[in-house]
Parts: sequence; C-alpha cells; structure tokens
Amino acid sequence: MTEVKLIPADEQYIEQMMALEHESFHRDAWTEESMRFEVLSNHTRYFVLLQDSLVVGYAGLSKLIGSNQADVQTIAVAPALRGKGYGRKLMQRLLLEAEAQGATEIFLEVRADNSVAAALYTSLGFSHIDTRKRYYQPDDVDALIMRAPLTAKTKSEPVVLGIESSCDETGIGIVRGNTLLANVISSSMDQHARFGGVVPEIAARAHLEALQPTLVQALHDANLSMDDIDAIAVTNGPGLAGALMVGVGAAKALSVASGKPIYAVNHLVGHVGVDVLEGELELPTIALLVSGGHTSLLLVKDLLDDVTLLGETIDDAAGEAFDKVARILGLGYPGGPSIDEAAKTGDPKAIRFPRGLTLPKDMEKHRYDFSFSGLKTAVARWVEVAEAKGESFSIADVAASFREAVADVLTAKAVAACNDHGIKRLLLGGGVVANARLRQLAAERCEANDIELRIPELKLCTDNGAMIAALGSQLVMAGREPSSLDFGVDSTLSVETVHTK
Ligand code: KG4
Ligand code: ZN
Repeated sequence: MTEVKLIPADEQYIEQMMALEHESFHRDAWTEESMRFEVLSNHTRYFVLLQDSLVVGYAGLSKLIGSNQADVQTIAVAPALRGKGYGRKLMQRLLLEAEAQGATEIFLEVRADNSVAAALYTSLGFSHIDTRKRYYQPDDVDALIMRAPLTAKTKSEPVVLGIESSCDETGIGIVRGNTLLANVISSSMDQHARFGGVVPEIAARAHLEALQPTLVQALHDANLSMDDIDAIAVTNGPGLAGALMVGVGAAKALSVASGKPIYAVNHLVGHVGVDVLEGELELPTIALLVSGGHTSLLLVKDLLDDVTLLGETIDDAAGEAFDKVARILGLGYPGGPSIDEAAKTGDPKAIRFPRGLTLPKDMEKHRYDFSFSGLKTAVARWVEVAEAKGESFSIADVAASFREAVADVLTAKAVAACNDHGIKRLLLGGGVVANARLRQLAAERCEANDIELRIPELKLCTDNGAMIAALGSQLVMAGREPSSLDFGVDSTLSVETVHTK
C-alpha cells in the first residue's frame, strides 16, 4: 500500500518540484531559480506531498515579518492524484502554518476558469473579494482574489507529542487538535525475524536506540521545536513492560526538562482515538483491535469515559497466529503479509480449519472472546499428517483456508457485537487490518448487516505515536488533569483506564 506524507520542503526536493511545476503550469511555470529562491527563503513556508519518496504535490505561502497577512503562493498536485483530497490537505496545512506565523488573514489568486479549485477554497473559508481582469495571459483569463480570515481556533488547539513503545514499534506522533502533523515510526521487526516473534529484550533495547532520532524526525516533519509542544502523551500500557518503560522514561524526562504536562494513556484506546485524525470519530462504536499483541473487541460509548472490553483472545493474538502459522508453512516473518500473499492463489474452502470459541456452548460464555491456538495446532497437525503420508499439498490452499478461518471468526464476532448492542458502527484497528481477506469479509458482512465500517489508513492502524498524541489531545481539549509524574507502566492495563492520573 502506498503512503502519502506531507512534510516541509527543502533543497533535495526542488528538482522534483520543478518537474511537477512544468507538468502543472506549462507556460506559467516558474524557473528553477525562482522556485529555489521561494522555497528556501525566510519569508516563505513550503510543504511537499511525498508518495514513496516521490514529490506528488507541493504548496507554499509567504508572510512578511510584522504583517498579519499571509499569501498562498502556489499549490500543485500531480494529475494522477487529483480529486483525492490532497489539495485540501495541502491547503489545510498552509492555513495552520499561516496561523502559527501569527497571520490573521490569508489571500490567494485562482484562475476564474478553475471552478474545482475555487470550490475547494470556498469550502475552506475563502471568499471571493476582487477580480483581476485578464490576469492570466495569453489566455485572457481573469484571476479571482480570495480571502479567508484566520480564526484563533487552531491557535487554541493543543499541540501534543505522542510516544508509543508498547511492542516493537517506536512511534512518535505530533498532532494539533485533531490534525496530524507528524507520524514517524521506527520498527525493530527485522531484528525479531529470526526468532519468529517479538523478543521483549530486543524490542526494549531497540526503543532506546530509536527514540531520539525518531523524535528529531517527527519535530522536523511537523516543522516544530519542543518549545511549540503543549503536552506530551505516552503509552503506559498494555504491552511489553520493558518496552513500555523505555517510552515512559523518555516521556517523563522530556516533561521534566521542558516543563510540559504529561498524559499517560491506554494503548488500546489509542487505536480507537486515532480515528479523530481522519474526520469525526462517531460514537458509540464497536471496535475490533487485531495485531500481533492483541485481539480485543471493545464497546466505546465515550472515548475518555466509557470504554468497555466485550471480549479478547484467551490465548494467542490474531497476528501471532499468522506469525506462527507462517513459520509452520516455511513462509517469512512477519507472517501476516506472507500468508496474505501465499493465500492469493489458494482455495479458502480446501480445508475446513476450526473456528475457535464458536460452538453453541462457547457462544454463551465466550460470545465475544477469541482463541487461535487450537487453529494454529490444527494447521500444524494437518501439515504433519500430509507430510507423514508423503503427500504433496498446496501451501496456497493451507494459507487461504487458515486465513479464511481467522477472518471468519473475527468478523462474525464483531458483527454479532454490533447487532447485539444495536450499534451499527464498527471500527477496525491494529496491524492485522492489513489483511486483504479480513477487509473484504468485514466489508461484505457489515454491508449485509447495515453496519457502517471504518478502517483508518493503515499507517494509523499499526502501532504508532500519532494515535497516542491524538488521544492525549482529546484529554487536553476536554480539560483533563495531566498525570502526576509517579505513574508506572502496566503491561495488563485495562481498557477502562483510558488515562492514568
Ligand atoms: O499492529 P502491529 O503492527 O503491531 C504489533 O502488534 O506488533 O501488528 C503486527 C502484526 C503481526 O503479527 C503481523 O503478522 C500482522 O500484524 N499482520 C498481518 C498482515 N500484516 C501484518 N496479519 C494478517 N494479514 C496481514 N496482511
Ligand atoms: Zn497496538
């Protein structure tokens, strides 16, 4: 899956920006010299949109020192990516930046024949205040001058830094209110590959090494310094104790050194709260969180005050089952992606593997709980028997049948929870959400049951710091008290404790 990132522009991107400039503006294109001057100048702020390290969009504004007016200089999005909301993302970023620079109003010019752009600007609060006749030559097209007042709204929104270290991802995220400013993740996954699963000591050690550079990168991406941060949020559980301690230690040190308040938050609730970064988090909702460390079904009525655990795995997490079965089949680590790949050409009905905790007797006591260890053993047994008989078998069929069993149970129980509680909304989170069959089956079953399905962008589903920052930001905006510095880590922290005071 390709990921698009918005970061400050610098010298290294100018050549690519020029290529896009020519593609977008043809005759009106700037020269490389003026582009370089504008991008690197002190009175301007430029941002680039990167897709797999290729520049696919950019935008810039200028603001003279001492003036309270900012001016949008340019904005461009690669033709292939138009109509996907990237122009809006770039503009929103410019508006935030203009406010951060102390501007109280912002201006732009748009071609009178570009009604799509004008509509976007109008939706962002701009209004048409003047027209420059036949400004664009030689086409004789008028320029519309548009203006937007900058309210103090975003100014009053807290800038929160989030630190996540509960498993093998060191994540640092920065948000302003509900807007994502940076999300940098450093994973120690490769170091665990030869063990076939996360090794706690290696994870803790890797967090220690990754924290500082990840923090520096996140501040750079957000174009901020520690002085701009209003509060620090950190995961204090659930997760691996040693790994959590590294993040909590770093967060406390930063808090003491900078004098910023600290909020200890719940990792699982962070997976739910992250949805505010993609629009409004609609509540109440059922949330299914599936990763290498957890498989939990939550009922969320209020993000900060009313989160209930409906059920969870009684043995392995779903992602762990993928990792273990991949090992049995001789596929790579992490198992999820390699099984997904192998399953593509397989028949999901080839083998009927058991669906854990779905028998009528289980459905009374463990209606919303999961069990994957029996499934893993069943796969191992099946392979053993086939090998003992000297039979050749299709790895693709085993992978597809196993994946089907996991996706079937996860979605069936999540849909049941929605129906039982009369909550027609399901939010997915965690790294296993990348699974192609899980997404497909969730979509099908939700549609059949009239349930609205929300799946945040994958980079926000896997463990990350932005979700912790987002949850912290909700606490700050709700006026909650920060944590006192003596909180500890809790590897089995209950979802009901959203925030440890
Ligand atoms: O949320 P995540 O990045 O963090 C941890 O729990 O560490 O989840 C990682 C887990 C791994 O177990 C991996 O095998 C699983 O998510 N995963 C997948 C897929 N991609 C990653 N599981 C199934 N299908 C996938 N495509
Ligand atoms: Zn997680």
